[in-house]
Amino acid sequence: MKKEIKILAIESSCDETAASIIADDGNSLHILSNIIASQIDIHKQYGGVIPEIAAREHCRNIIPVVNSALKEAGLSGSNATQELQAIAVTTGPGLITSLMVGVETARSLSYAWKLPLISVNHIAGHIYANWLNNQSIQFPCLVMTVSGGHNLLVLMTDHLKYKIVGDTKDDAAGEAFDKAAKILGLGYPGGPAIAKAAQIDEQFKVKLPRPMLHSGDFNFSFSGLKTALLYQVQKDKAAKNHTNAYAEEFEQAVTDIITTKTLQAAKKYKTKTIMLAGGVSANKRLRAFLTAKALGQGLPVIIAPLPYTTDNAAMIASAAIFQYHAGQFTPWHKLKANPNLKLK
Ligand code: KG4
Ligand code: ZN
Repeated sequence: MKKEIKILAIESSCDETAASIIADDGNSLHILSNIIASQIDIHKQYGGVIPEIAAREHCRNIIPVVNSALKEAGLSGSNATQELQAIAVTTGPGLITSLMVGVETARSLSYAWKLPLISVNHIAGHIYANWLNNQSIQFPCLVMTVSGGHNLLVLMTDHLKYKIVGDTKDDAAGEAFDKAAKILGLGYPGGPAIAKAAQIDEQFKVKLPRPMLHSGDFNFSFSGLKTALLYQVQKDKAAKNHTNAYAEEFEQAVTDIITTKTLQAAKKYKTKTIMLAGGVSANKRLRAFLTAKALGQGLPVIIAPLPYTTDNAAMIASAAIFQYHAGQFTPWHKLKANPNLKLK
């Protein structure tokens, strides 16, 4: 019988302080705890994440969050060397001062508890959220991973093997959602706000462009879409009365672009599965639209359950389990936060 593995993972790359413990019994993953201290309500008043405030909040929250994760998983922490097999932490990409809080905590615990350390790329974490409740994903797999900070089409030929086949030339789709929501006065974070407001208005038709839809490659550009929205709203004297229609067309434009590019790439690389990941994969319209269109091409679409789409530590633990089996460890004195860490 295989030995059960338990990993503690820490995530602090942006504005969520998170810790989770996952067990791998050799057949499936079990989330024993998944604690998140969100700072959304603090940053909301500024219309976006303020790095200095985020780092201070991480410092305040990190130990209580790790303690809660241990407690909820039924672990004492005082016996961590026996209870856990490794500690994992997000080392990048993200905000440097936010990342450092998680990284320094993980390094200290690794040193004190004599446990190996696993450095996890935040984007790999988003991708591996899809393995939390699904172990039968078939390779080659095409992953559309899209959040506030990244917008990548990734070809995976096996576990932990990433080839970037598409990227954004400017903004990520999540960033575009956040900026569009600001233009429409809908608040932060923009994705859920736009989704909530989106509604067809039979009396007021809006048409926005779909930049780079047929560019012949798998790259994206969302900055022009946001600017097109801005110009239309500026020209419209009654824009306040048409917020629902603007939100609806913006959400559909992003959905059309992501769906079209993903299906084009899946066809070219002959993938067996499509996966959606990252904060924007919480978008219900995108989830339903992509799933329906892909099904038309006979391709299954895998998307993580909603609580694991936006930043959390269970996704980091999931990636770490696979890295553990692949022997990917980093000694505590070499582990560093890297705000520009690349997926490779
Ligand atoms: O992955 P995430 O939590 O943080 C980053 O790594 O950036 O993603 C946050 C992004 C934000 O831009 C937010 O507006 C977007 O994901 N988002 C959504 C939805 N929920 C979050 N975008 C569209 N629809 C949603 N329901
Ligand atoms: Zn994220």
